[in-house]
Amino acid sequence: MNKLFVSLLLTLGISGLAHAAGDAVAGQGKIAMCSACHNADGNSMVPNFPKLAGQGERYLLKQMHDIKSGARPVVEMTGMLDAMTEQDLADIAAWYASQKGTIGAADPALVEHGEALYRGGKLVDGVPACTGCHSPNGEGLDLAVYPKLNGQHADYIAKQLTDFREGNRTNDGDAMIMRSIATKLSNKDIKALSSYINGLN
Ligand code: HEC
Ligand code: HEC
Repeated sequence: MNKLFVSLLLTLGISGLAHAAGDAVAGQGKIAMCSACHNADGNSMVPNFPKLAGQGERYLLKQMHDIKSGARPVVEMTGMLDAMTEQDLADIAAWYASQKGTIGAADPALVEHGEALYRGGKLVDGVPACTGCHSPNGEGLDLAVYPKLNGQHADYIAKQLTDFREGNRTNDGDAMIMRSIATKLSNKDIKALSSYINGLN
């Protein structure tokens, strides 16, 4: 093998490591601490603790980076990600992304309003339909880091929309996509959307 070829291989190897691909099986071995709240398969049983099962890998990784850096404050997770390497985070993201998320059930009394908002937005106020980014079935679009929403606990969804609206969650980027949408949602809108999303599949 000539020297150029060897150094090329090394360069490729190193850049490959820098963008470490997640290994789901390795990730399963790194979530002991997380399972207490998010469950081993990521289907949390507690309405305020988000389900991570089936969530997009890129989105999961972005949130872990944001939580670790403090860009998204999660007091329940204080310090938990500090000792984790990039590889650990990538493996954990791969593990939860590979699991199947459970679906809940929407409150029949809220479905009509929730569905109208989710699929049509609020034209007069300039609220876009959620389907445009989170997709019609709520699967999201992980290539664009748009999270999956379907089946998520209604309480958790409601808290996120309220946090975006009140400026308590600000990690949606410079375009402030979610903050600008949430400021135009009433409490009633948030309740209906959250219930609808919990039953969406
Ligand atoms: C004591 C409970 C608790 C533990 C333990 C915990 N979390 Fe969390 N986690 C939470 C809560 C609560 C939130 C959401 C906070 C909020 O309302 O914004 C969250 C949010 C998240 C999110 C963002 C989900 C989303 O949909 O945006 C990820 C990813 C996450 N946790 C990963 C982990 C990992 C990985 C571990 C283990 C290293 C862990 N968590 C341990 C309580 C916990
Ligand atoms: C233009 C694209 C876009 C539209 C339209 C949009 N979202 Fe989002 N949404 C995002 C992005 C991007 C994020 C992730 C922000 C981040 O990185 O923290 C997000 C995050 C969320 C979250 C937090 C998910 C979690 O697991 O914590 C909720 C809830 C949400 N959106 C609900 C909605 C609802 C309801 C609508 C419609 C009223 C909507 N979104 C419309 C792009 C969009």
